[in-house]
Amino acid sequence: MRVLVLHGPNLNLLGRREPHLYGSDSLATVDARIRALAAELGVDVDIHQSNLEGELVTRIQQALGSADGIVINPAAYTHTSIALRDALGAVALPAVEVHLSNVHAREEFRQRSLTAGVCIGVVGGFGAESYLLGLRALVAHLRRTTPPGPAKARTPRAPRRARRPH
Ligand code: DQA
Repeated sequence: MRVLVLHGPNLNLLGRREPHLYGSDSLATVDARIRALAAELGVDVDIHQSNLEGELVTRIQQALGSADGIVINPAAYTHTSIALRDALGAVALPAVEVHLSNVHAREEFRQRSLTAGVCIGVVGGFGAESYLLGLRALVAHLRRTTPPGPAKARTPRAPRRARRPH
């Protein structure tokens, strides 16, 4: 099972950027915690950050066929980006939206998410822990809903008929 984790704009500045809102951990530290949890859960993770809307759209499109689900903090694009919403809707992979801060306790313009409606759920307000809770929730959802692959198929195949002698 493979999960794509996406960080949106300005999250590369984590640790230095408004630490009273977003915490003092750097993005590298947050990513290390995500990787540690992924290892514990037995899933592979691909993690990317971009300040560019189009690049995030492309990453989401590329997830089709290469990932089973998405954890995304669209950052400011949460509140503005129809393109990200459409990309998430187009690939239709289970996605969890996460936020470090509790956007509902902040400015009014942050209280509308264009992306949440195409996600299976939203986690916010727990700092870096939001990503970990989001990853756990996504993996639990995928394990509940993904049918076992051919290698793990429970129905035994019918025995092959013996060849008739010529
Ligand atoms: C954020 C909340 C957004 O409103 C803001 O633009 C961000 C970070 C969060 O993680 O709390 O950049 O997504």
